[in-house]
Amino acid sequence: MSRSFDRLVEEVRRGVEAELDRLLGPVEEAGDLAPLHAAMRHAVLGGGKRVRALLVDLAGRALDVPEPARRRVGAAVELLHAYSLVHDDLPAMDDASLRRGLPTVHRRFGEDVAILAGDALQALAFEVLARADWPASAPARAALVAELAAAAGWRGMCGGQFLDLHPAGSDETEVVRLQRLKTGALIAFCVRAPAILAQAPAPVREALERYADALGLAFQITDDLLDVEGTAATTGKDTGRDVPAGKATLVALFGVEGARRRLRDLAREAEEALAVVPADATWLRELFRRVCERTS
Ligand code: IPE
Ligand code: IPE
Ligand code: MG
Ligand code: MG
Ligand code: MG
Repeated sequence: MSRSFDRLVEEVRRGVEAELDRLLGPVEEAGDLAPLHAAMRHAVLGGGKRVRALLVDLAGRALDVPEPARRRVGAAVELLHAYSLVHDDLPAMDDASLRRGLPTVHRRFGEDVAILAGDALQALAFEVLARADWPASAPARAALVAELAAAAGWRGMCGGQFLDLHPAGSDETEVVRLQRLKTGALIAFCVRAPAILAQAPAPVREALERYADALGLAFQITDDLLDVEGTAATTGKDTGRDVPAGKATLVALFGVEGARRRLRDLAREAEEALAVVPADATWLRELFRRVCERTS
């Protein structure tokens, strides 16, 4: 089973990266915008686990969403995510020098170009959902654009990023709130989007959302654990940054063991949510397990 999951992960990665490559367009056509375009390509195609595209794919499979639609939505989420990382790494934010094993965009291309590349990637994410060159109805495309905007905006990812830098408090409730916003909102979009495309009944959509909520929190806990326990060589990014920066995380609150206990609670919550999903949820279960055990 684990081998066939690995094959599936690889297949989704290849499909979504080909789509991203096409959507970004060839370097030769960039003309005098080449440095901006190169920065965008560096941010998007320079590695990454593609967990969000994989989640779109797995939830989409469970709901019988056709592959071209799963691929397009997966690419849109990865574009939005790549933008969030470019801006997250900027000197005014986390001031990071390494991302996906490569220099961060501002280190390689300059801060002005990094800001603009992030802006352009965000715009492209919405453009590729809105335009009519993929198999989704106009109302579905409009709904996806609205959902992604809500997930990315001030009551979603950007709000969470604000709280990450300007915490309203560091108790458990506040940390969980900020993590739901900064990481959870985009991960929730990854199951909402296939539910929109499949016109899934409310109970199924809600069960997938409960699963995604647990997955989003688990994903950020493992990210925070890797900041403490990982190395730049394994994670491909700067580590050991959260404690000196005074970041409010569950690892800071409860320690490594406490955070791991929390992961086990979340795994139970994910399991309970998936029990309500009528389709085969084997791969979604496996994805949760992998996220909890990840080393990069
Ligand atoms: C890192 O996301 C930022 C967080 C929200 C924790 P990923 O760990 O998914 O980064 P890539 O896409 O694999 O590089
Ligand atoms: C970033 O969280 C979340 C985003 C919305 C980009 P982190 O700042 O912990 O992510 P890393 O560790 O730099 O990837
Ligand atoms: Mg950050
Ligand atoms: Mg960061
Ligand atoms: Mg981190």
